Amino acid sequence: MKKLLWILNIAFLLVAGNVQAAGGHGIELEAANNNLRDQDSLQRGAILFSNYCMACHSAKYMRYNRIGRDIGWSDEEVVQKMAHGLNKVVDNVETRMVPGVAMDVLGTEPPDLSLMARLKGTDYIYSFLKGYYQNEKGAWDNHLLAGTSMPNVLEGIQRHATPEDYDQSVRDLANFLEYVGEPAKLDRLDLGWKVIAFLLVLLLLSYLLKREYWRDVKH
Ligand code: HEC
Repeated sequence: MKKLLWILNIAFLLVAGNVQAAGGHGIELEAANNNLRDQDSLQRGAILFSNYCMACHSAKYMRYNRIGRDIGWSDEEVVQKMAHGLNKVVDNVETRMVPGVAMDVLGTEPPDLSLMARLKGTDYIYSFLKGYYQNEKGAWDNHLLAGTSMPNVLEGIQRHATPEDYDQSVRDLANFLEYVGEPAKLDRLDLGWKVIAFLLVLLLLSYLLKREYWRDVKH
């Protein structure tokens, strides 16, 4: 019995010991506290992404139809809400920035955001978007990316919405970008629990079987 408990204990540690890579920029990140299972949040995040980010950024490893299917919109809805009906549903999520303009206007190319949440973490994205402040000269700067050429694009929301609604909007964006970074994550998480449940049942059955086999053996 002791052995069984020991094995269960290790299984538990393996599941619970969710190792997170450290950021390395030395600034405390704020937890995004987003929830991939919150479909309303993902839908709000997708609309915010279209309205506030796609002027400069793409998420080109995603197609509209996949997003629609995953977050609960029909083909017509996703194209309407994210591309104002101007794209085909099989199109990749490209930026609306005219090629070549970014370098002239911003001095750099805005990165594709498909894998940004995988690269930097959802908390980073949340903290980065909330990390804008006005320096002593009154210009916007960012605590996490000093001197960034990305403007404080959420300034309008920050100024007009309540602090709670502003936080929620940033959380919705981080949530959407986490989903975009790994569209199959929800399936993977659900599958993981099923596999572990199956293994635990198997463990119990094997243990009972072992006991049955050894019952008549004198030791
Ligand atoms: C006006 C153009 C513009 C818009 C709009 C814009 N960005 Fe950016 N973004 C940039 C540029 C340029 C960079 C590269 C910044 C740099 O290297 O200084 C960047 C970089 C980033 C990064 C990477 C930061 C890092 O640490 O490397 C993230 C994340 C990001 N943007 C998210 C967003 C999100 C989310 C939105 C929408 C809410 C958005 N951006 C809207 C221009 C834009």
